[in-house]
Amino acid sequence: MQFRAVKGTFDVLPDEVGRWQRLEQAFRSTVELHGYSEIRTPVIELMDLFVRSVGETTEMVEKQMFTFPRSDEVIALRPEGTAGVARAYVGHSVNAREPVTRWYYIGPMFRAEQPQRGRYRQFHQAGCEIYGDAGPHSDAEMIDMLVGFLGSLGIRQVRVLVNCLGGAGTRERYRQALEAHFRPRAEQLSEHAKKRLDDNPLRILDSKNPKDIEASAGAPSILDLLEPADKAHWDGLRAALDALGTPYEVSPTLVRGLDYYTRTLFEIQGASGELGSQNALLGGGRYDRMVKELGGPEVPAIGFAMGLERLLLAMPEEAPVSKPLVFVAPLGERARVEALKLGRELRNAGIRVEVDARGNSMKSLLRRSDALGARVALVLGDSEIDQGTVQLKDLVQHSQAAVPRAELLGRVQSALGAEPPASGESR
Ligand code: HAM
Repeated sequence: MQFRAVKGTFDVLPDEVGRWQRLEQAFRSTVELHGYSEIRTPVIELMDLFVRSVGETTEMVEKQMFTFPRSDEVIALRPEGTAGVARAYVGHSVNAREPVTRWYYIGPMFRAEQPQRGRYRQFHQAGCEIYGDAGPHSDAEMIDMLVGFLGSLGIRQVRVLVNCLGGAGTRERYRQALEAHFRPRAEQLSEHAKKRLDDNPLRILDSKNPKDIEASAGAPSILDLLEPADKAHWDGLRAALDALGTPYEVSPTLVRGLDYYTRTLFEIQGASGELGSQNALLGGGRYDRMVKELGGPEVPAIGFAMGLERLLLAMPEEAPVSKPLVFVAPLGERARVEALKLGRELRNAGIRVEVDARGNSMKSLLRRSDALGARVALVLGDSEIDQGTVQLKDLVQHSQAAVPRAELLGRVQSALGAEPPASGESR
């Protein structure tokens, strides 16, 4: 019986993994330059953590969590990273040790969504969270870092959407204004939105249902209802982005699907095409209430997460993954162990080597080294062992020579150095 991967999940095969590693590495170096340190939290958390922080009436919590009971607890595979990171921040009393904390994470997240291009049930996020800085300059720095990071990956055609959701007071005013807008249009709304009208009208703005989109036309803008402190934060954010020269668009209808946001909210979208309808490359915002709600002190916070699959779809194609540069082809029984020693010696000098000790014929060995795209093949049989030499075939220059063992490393190094590897490849 052959098994398939679970719906909405996928394997990353070795010839694709290089792109993942390069993306992760680029992310790490960018965020570390900005003062973030890595945190690793479990992929399982208590389900209530997400109910509490992400919000009971969000799609993510209502429909998308993978949950299972264990003893008398209900466990969830994390649908996102922020709640677990905040739980760790509170649980380790980090605020008592430092006034500002900058953390980043990379890892798999799980949501039971309908899979399509750019949308999976197991996907990977790289994200950052800052605790202890009320902004708005840290908000602007984060958005500016992200635009720069995407640019460094070759993703330049982006839309940076920003909005301000305000704090509790503004939100209540907005809730009332939305209710006043939607109540007379209740009959036009989808069944789901009708329910939201009572408990969370903001979520109607997030609906993809054409009926709800139509009913949302002309809805009041939260930016007209900001309380003074929220307004000052919003003006401060825009002034800082303007001063940094970071491009952005004000999007008063941007609400995003999680309930924890306060004040600054942003999303960066890629050009459609590769991404189709799943064009949100990353999203984030401020969530100044969460630390307190999770039992900690009052500590402001902001963060974002980007979908690595979506970034890989949006990134321009690049050179294929690096393959071994040297192929060692032993002929005959004695040569097999000699070949292993040779491989070890070259690798100790930092050279990527594949030894093919399966005992194949010369012809099939050379076919294999061609297929790998090796630059040098080292062939050795009984006579080479007796003479203390190795046949060095330079597969780029198309030359061959018997090289004394003692000189081999130097000769291999100069053959590899003679012509640099193809674009992007590194040794
Ligand atoms: P989110 O918007 O739910 O925010 O997800 C962030 C990013 O993860 C999306 O923009 C998208 O690139 C990617 N993503 C989400 N769902 C999927 C999926 N099913 N398949 C592939 N990619 C997906 C959050 O998760 C927040 N925790 C962000 C945040 C951090 N806010 C504050 N701090």
